[in-house]
Amino acid sequence: MNRLFFLLAVLYLPLSHSNAREAKEYDNDINYDELKVPHYDLPKLLIGPNGEKISTTDKWENIRRPQILSLYSNLIYGRVPEPEKPLNITFKLVKEDKGFMKGKATRKDIDIIISNDKDSKTMRFLVFSPNGVEGPAPAFLKHSFNNTKSNDFDASLLRKGKLKNGWPLGEFFDRGYGFCAVYHEDLVGHNEVSFNNSIHKLFYPKGQSFPKASEWGVISACAWGAMKAMDYLETDNDVDHKRVAIMGHSKMGKTTLWTAAQDERFALAIAAQSGCAGAALWRRKSGETLKKMVTRFPYWLCRNAWKFVDQEDDLPIDQHMLLACIAPRPVYVHSGVKDTWADGRGEYLSAFHASEVYKLYGKKALDSEESPPVGKAIIESHVGYHIREGGHSIQSFDWKRFLDFADYHLKK
Ligand code: GCU
Repeated sequence: MNRLFFLLAVLYLPLSHSNAREAKEYDNDINYDELKVPHYDLPKLLIGPNGEKISTTDKWENIRRPQILSLYSNLIYGRVPEPEKPLNITFKLVKEDKGFMKGKATRKDIDIIISNDKDSKTMRFLVFSPNGVEGPAPAFLKHSFNNTKSNDFDASLLRKGKLKNGWPLGEFFDRGYGFCAVYHEDLVGHNEVSFNNSIHKLFYPKGQSFPKASEWGVISACAWGAMKAMDYLETDNDVDHKRVAIMGHSKMGKTTLWTAAQDERFALAIAAQSGCAGAALWRRKSGETLKKMVTRFPYWLCRNAWKFVDQEDDLPIDQHMLLACIAPRPVYVHSGVKDTWADGRGEYLSAFHASEVYKLYGKKALDSEESPPVGKAIIESHVGYHIREGGHSIQSFDWKRFLDFADYHLKK
């Protein structure tokens, strides 16, 4: 990677913002043409570090999966270092409303306070659980773009059981699910570049003020936060922490996959239009590329990832391997026809190739390299998928399929 590019990336920082959809309009070096996708060879999932065949789930779990996770930690998302000073983590119930949505659900606002003598950070975790159900409920945990401290979630904003942003909370409660949310900016800024006021600060030993090249970027920090939220759920009797589906859209879809890959407490994962650094294969270079991502969002990944800009073939991983690390827990990938920036075809292929590991576990997974027809959801499989008409969003149709997938796997 040349120095000029680094310099350009740094100069670009003050201008960068989150709306890369606009970028699509004026960038003329993006490929959306399937015929122009380069030839590529994916790294093999079931070959170990010494060239040995990974023929059993034991070998997968003890040799290959840890190796792959370590590659992701050190080269792509960045690993969370050991803090020099132990962290003190407390859960504080800020508010409880047992009559949410005319008594359909209970809403809890919980502060997860993380501190040591360097600093303190608070995550506001929202937990909605359906009332009148038997036993603790299965739930979705959303990596959310909505600020959990705002009134975005007020019952007064619900119209026909949906929040203004389209989240069908009523449908979740009617189908017996809880709904939880963490906010992506509680621990680290959306496009953080200084890491001086983020969760990272608590982890710096004397003399350090910025993550090392192999240390956590923004996505890793958000993933870590969701794991703290899971620590809380393990203490909450209204939610069945063994049946929690982690989910997220776009940047948070990427984060969802990285969270679920690392933390086996999440029973299922749903990555909506996660695209580049999510489900889409790096090597296809279709839609958003590594170069585009690190130019606009330099620290979503760790700095080691920069070294692979325009060198995707040198990556020891591709994104099918991230999905495979979730196995044998069910994973669902969602794409949109018009969401070409996220490369729906690449998202599907990743799910298809990850299926090899699910099959090693004897699970039903994707058999066909062909993407399914638009609007047809693959639900009865450990690797689920749908692509629908339209662009970059989660629509009513998508929510229903996510719930169908969770029903199939979590309510058996
Ligand atoms: C940008 C970015 C994508 C990301 C998206 C989002 O478009 O380039 O990688 O998925 O923002 O989070 O909405």
